[in-house]
Amino acid sequence: MSGADPLSVLRDRRSRAALALPAPPRETLQEILVAACSAPDHARLRPWRFIVVEETAREALGDAFAAAHAEREPNAGAADLRRTRAKALRAPLIVVVVSAPREHPKVPFWEQRASAACVAYGVVLAAHARGVGAMWRTGWYGDAPKVRAHLGIDDGEEVMGWVYLGTPAGAEPAPRPAAEPPVTWLG
Ligand SMILES: Cc1cc2nc3c(=O)[nH]c(=O)nc-3n(C[C@H](O)[C@H](O)[C@H](O)COP(=O)(O)O)c2cc1C
Repeated sequence: MSGADPLSVLRDRRSRAALALPAPPRETLQEILVAACSAPDHARLRPWRFIVVEETAREALGDAFAAAHAEREPNAGAADLRRTRAKALRAPLIVVVVSAPREHPKVPFWEQRASAACVAYGVVLAAHARGVGAMWRTGWYGDAPKVRAHLGIDDGEEVMGWVYLGTPAGAEPAPRPAAEPPVTWLG
């Protein structure tokens, strides 16, 4: 898909919930992450970072999800914990996009978080441009102390997204219906 009209990359991208092996090779992932880091970024603070959870690291992440669930809900049953653990196995690879804002005289935290959100979107778009399936997800476990400790997420950082990546599987999603943008034209 490289060389495609950039607008069609934006228009045609669909999230892919079903993602199979293989994961994108490291070189492709590197290319995707570099492209995503071109997001608008006031004062070039680069207030984000990535944690790449590769195939073999997913089990341990799933265990951290399940441990966090058990802590949050001590009466949770085994089936619930299994379902939570399985969230780490939904794709061959997960890029955790971490927002890492810091005090700055001109750039408030919200702007820095907005930059990190653009980066997460950039990962999804760049993946699509390289034929890699992607889906941006969130979840309470991004705030769970056990999960944050497992991933080494510092106080003041937050998980902006769990971007699941892999080979698109299952049916091709339907195109998103065209919709008029909600615009107030001041001519
Ligand atoms: C910040 C953010 C968090 C999201 N979290 C989830 C999520 O946890 N689960 C989910 O099914 N979709 C989530 N989505 C939506 C999907 O990424 C996706 O946009 C949606 O399924 C629509 O599909 P599309 O991207 O093909 O239009 C999230 C989107 C954003 C921007």
